[in-house]
Amino acid sequence: MAQDTIAILGGTGDLGTGLAIRWAKAGHKIIIGSRTLEKAETAVTNLQKTSPDTPAQAMENGDAAAAGDIVVLTVPADHQLSTLDSVRDSLKGKILIDVTVPLVPPKVGTVQLPPEGSAGKRAQDLLGDDVMVVTAFQNIAAHLLQEDVKIECDVLIAGNKKAARDRVMELVEEAGMNGWHAGPIENSAAAEALTSILIQINRKHDISHSGIKVVGQADH
Ligand SMILES: NC(=O)c1ccc[n+]([C@@H]2O[C@H](COP(=O)([O-])OP(=O)(O)OC[C@H]3O[C@@H](n4cnc5c(N)ncnc54)[C@H](OP(=O)(O)O)[C@@H]3O)[C@@H](O)[C@H]2O)c1
Repeated sequence: MAQDTIAILGGTGDLGTGLAIRWAKAGHKIIIGSRTLEKAETAVTNLQKTSPDTPAQAMENGDAAAAGDIVVLTVPADHQLSTLDSVRDSLKGKILIDVTVPLVPPKVGTVQLPPEGSAGKRAQDLLGDDVMVVTAFQNIAAHLLQEDVKIECDVLIAGNKKAARDRVMELVEEAGMNGWHAGPIENSAAAEALTSILIQINRKHDISHSGIKVVGQADH
């Protein structure tokens, strides 16, 4: 599979750290983006403890977005649009993987999607058709990604361009999970909403890390 430079905006945080660890192990060059270079440098130092041979660089988010072949957004939902707006020119022609789950505290176990329909749709609306927004990983716990464990949950991949979803599917597999085509960006609403349901399942059934698995039989 192609080895890309993957720039993770907000890659200092919980989910970004987990994805960086997994894609670094798969051999990709990683750029950790942050609002501050110092914070990104600390994250790179930590990443190199688990993947000492991985080429990893620290940058501010704007430089990271410009340098990445593929850009990943892992910032809190309230800062999704402002962060994307600040780097939008650097995203043209690229795949943007958006992991945002628009939970609204304190009722995070209740589905409360934004007026645009979903976080993925509002990102695509903001960035326009020049950017291939693909949403994924909304139902995967950050610390599972960070640990050296097998992840049983599947990943729903939504986005308007099949080729972009195909590329993200490869990256999902390289991170150790199965991915499934979930259709156009509007369908990101289902994966985002599912997170609140999984939170309820965790609470009411006293389990951790509930997730989904797609079942079925091949027709051939
Ligand atoms: N945590 C999970 O298990 C999980 C699972 C699935 C999806 N998600 C989604 O993944 C995204 C990140 O979640 P997380 O738990 O990793 O978040 P987080 O650790 O709280 O924050 C991630 C990073 O966002 C940056 N950030 C914080 N405030 C910001 C602001 N005002 N403007 C711009 N950047 C800011 C910070 O980076 P710098 O300070 O370095 O700039 C921070 O390290 C969210 O959209 C969440 O819905 C999370």
